[in-house]
Amino acid sequence: MPRFRHILDTMAAYKPGKVVATPDGRSYKLSSNESPYDPLPSVVEAIAEGARQINRYPDPGAVGLTEAIAERFGVPADNIALGAGSVTVAQQLFESIGEPGVEVVYAWRSFEAYPLLADLAGVKSVRVPLAGEDHDLDAMAEAINERTRMVFVCNPNNPTGTSIRRGALEAFLDRVPEHVLVVLDEAYREYVRDEDVPDGLTLYRDRPNVCVLRTFSKAYGLAGLRVGYLVAHEPVATAIRKTIIPFAVNHLAQVAAVASLKAEDELLERVEHVVKERTRVREALIAQGWTVPPTEANFVWLRLGERTLDFAAACAVEGVAVRPFAGEGARVSIGTPEANDAFLTAAAAFRG
Ligand SMILES: Cc1ncc(COP(=O)(O)O)c(C=O)c1O
Repeated sequence: MPRFRHILDTMAAYKPGKVVATPDGRSYKLSSNESPYDPLPSVVEAIAEGARQINRYPDPGAVGLTEAIAERFGVPADNIALGAGSVTVAQQLFESIGEPGVEVVYAWRSFEAYPLLADLAGVKSVRVPLAGEDHDLDAMAEAINERTRMVFVCNPNNPTGTSIRRGALEAFLDRVPEHVLVVLDEAYREYVRDEDVPDGLTLYRDRPNVCVLRTFSKAYGLAGLRVGYLVAHEPVATAIRKTIIPFAVNHLAQVAAVASLKAEDELLERVEHVVKERTRVREALIAQGWTVPPTEANFVWLRLGERTLDFAAACAVEGVAVRPFAGEGARVSIGTPEANDAFLTAAAAFRG
């Protein structure tokens, strides 16, 4: 019998979002916080053109994409590190700090990849329970010690959708020692409408230990191509770039991401529709009698406790796949109006 690392025995594999369907074929995937829109024609065209070069390895430095991101966000190109999805960049972060005895602090519940990546990198997870549905930043600051090398702050938080405002986040960052890297995971940044929720890129500039994780998977609609990036001060970005598997960001992902930045206005218009639907869905749920925390992301969160799996099953009857966390709650992505209506029908029926 081949032998594996002991940690694997304790690890549950990452569970991707499910797909379900009604007998007459209705199927709405609201389980992975994806964009519900088809890719833009201009992006499909760039991918088709890029397909002509796939006999060659991709540009390992992804120079074109790096420069496009640098220009778009007004950051130096050497502050950018790319990966095959932001989850891979997160893995690179864990690999860069991972050593026996090292700890990472993050809120829990938050993005379910954090504990997996910590375990894989041999880093001890220090999970700080949410206060209600929000980050408990005081408790997180108190959890930092001399073994802490990194803190993940997911803003808005997956799966609760709640977000941290500028004053609270700045006060927290002021308490974090300089040798601890703070990663602001902003996978859902483009959906934020609360002006008090800071753009991490305004916070990292004066703080050498703060960096920002972003993705093309959500608002930019490229979940299937896998591309995300970190914006960090040069020593951090350089360390992270060292951990990338050569050629990890493939050529089609690179050209599609460049094309998406060019078509950003169109994409952000779509985000606006999702934000409007988010308001409609949340208000309808509240009118049905649900408690729904304010959300700045492209999903809503229902704390269902022991009823969570029953709720997911009730949604499946309407063809709606949600993301249940057994015993805790369900996260439901905002989709097309039709998908959202199917979800609201299921939610209303569940309340009876
Ligand atoms: C908070 C958060 N960070 C990172 C990711 C990873 O996204 P990707 O690897 O597609 O960029 C996700 C995906 O759901 C997420 O919710």
